[in-house]
Amino acid sequence: MSKKSPRKGMQRLPAEKLYAQELKLLSKNDQLPRPDNWNLSPRAVVDYIMGTTMKDGTVISPKYIGNRRLIEIAVATLTTDRALLLTGVPGTAKTWVSEHLAAAISGTSRLLVQGTAGTHEDKLLYGWNYPVLLSKGPIREALVPSPVMRGMEEGRIVRIEEMTRMPFEIQDSLITILSERSLPIPELNEECSALNGFNIIATANDRDKGIHEMSGALQRRFNIVVLPLPESVDEELNIVLERLSPDLLIQLNKKIGKNSIEEIRKVVTIFKELRDGQTIDKKSSLKKVNSTISTAEIIAVVNNGLAMCTHFGDGTLKTEHLASSLEGAIVKNRETDEAPWREYIELVIKKRKDWGAYFEYLSR
Ligand SMILES: Nc1ncnc2c1ncn2[C@@H]1O[C@H](COP(=O)(O)OP(=O)(O)O)[C@@H](O)[C@H]1O
Ligand SMILES: [Mg+2]
Repeated sequence: MSKKSPRKGMQRLPAEKLYAQELKLLSKNDQLPRPDNWNLSPRAVVDYIMGTTMKDGTVISPKYIGNRRLIEIAVATLTTDRALLLTGVPGTAKTWVSEHLAAAISGTSRLLVQGTAGTHEDKLLYGWNYPVLLSKGPIREALVPSPVMRGMEEGRIVRIEEMTRMPFEIQDSLITILSERSLPIPELNEECSALNGFNIIATANDRDKGIHEMSGALQRRFNIVVLPLPESVDEELNIVLERLSPDLLIQLNKKIGKNSIEEIRKVVTIFKELRDGQTIDKKSSLKKVNSTISTAEIIAVVNNGLAMCTHFGDGTLKTEHLASSLEGAIVKNRETDEAPWREYIELVIKKRKDWGAYFEYLSR
């Protein structure tokens, strides 16, 4: 008899698995026309991303918190013959949104190419299985399709992460695919034509600008949607609370008390002020921290704080739990970030009412 493995739990499920219930429910209730090979209508895709309440009262959780219109533009683009480029500073949910869009539209977010300086053409077009190629010659069986080619054949969305980290000439191999919607395979004397439903969602960081900017010819094949940083502390606080680790929340009985929320609000305020280079009331200007300090980092700080208070505290999130990872998240580069951070502690944190515990902890 085989024993059941005692080791459990996948660390991270893809969106289409994690939110399978929501996607099923949306599909069942979706009366609107769906583009060829789309699992949902464009409107239902936007509802999935932005969250909604179904007729029977079931809540579809919001994935992206922000401007609905941006997501509508993104989804509308994917129904056309233009591809979608999501840009913005790091941590503005580009990767997150692209994963959910692909999951909702095509049922898989796994047709993915990660762009790096070393990304080779075979990741965008096709490669060869050399043992088969050598023994049988250039036949279809020897060809290894890239995620892009598979997306074309299956009529699905393909994701390309960090597009502008790939060298120009590699990026440009997408031009024919995007304009002709077909991929010539001269070795086999055939071509792969894209089915309806195929499209590309690329992401690129603003910070990478100038590294390998996209060629004009390639840019013209994309609609660009810029994902902005959250406008206010409240908006950013909302995002952070929505994205806290469900596992830790379950251990804490799913409760984040009012006081803890106020603690988290302080962290969000600190990040926003250091990012903007001024206090929220706009009365003092501050030195800006040079490293990117995004919502994603705040989420990490708070999750870390939750882990501390769950395992080593009494289950209440306190200043000390959050403050312990704050400095590491803000000061990534000692040379450029240390001075603004020290100045902030002295000029802002020290003087604020109710922030005494932070000052005490941080000035130690
Ligand atoms: N507006 C937002 N709505 C929902 N989640 C957000 C938002 N902004 C940031 N996040 C969260 O921040 C994390 C990092 O986002 P990510 O997609 O990796 O950023 P990017 O690819 O833009 O650098 C994600 O887990 C995401 O949930
Ligand atoms: Mg990303």
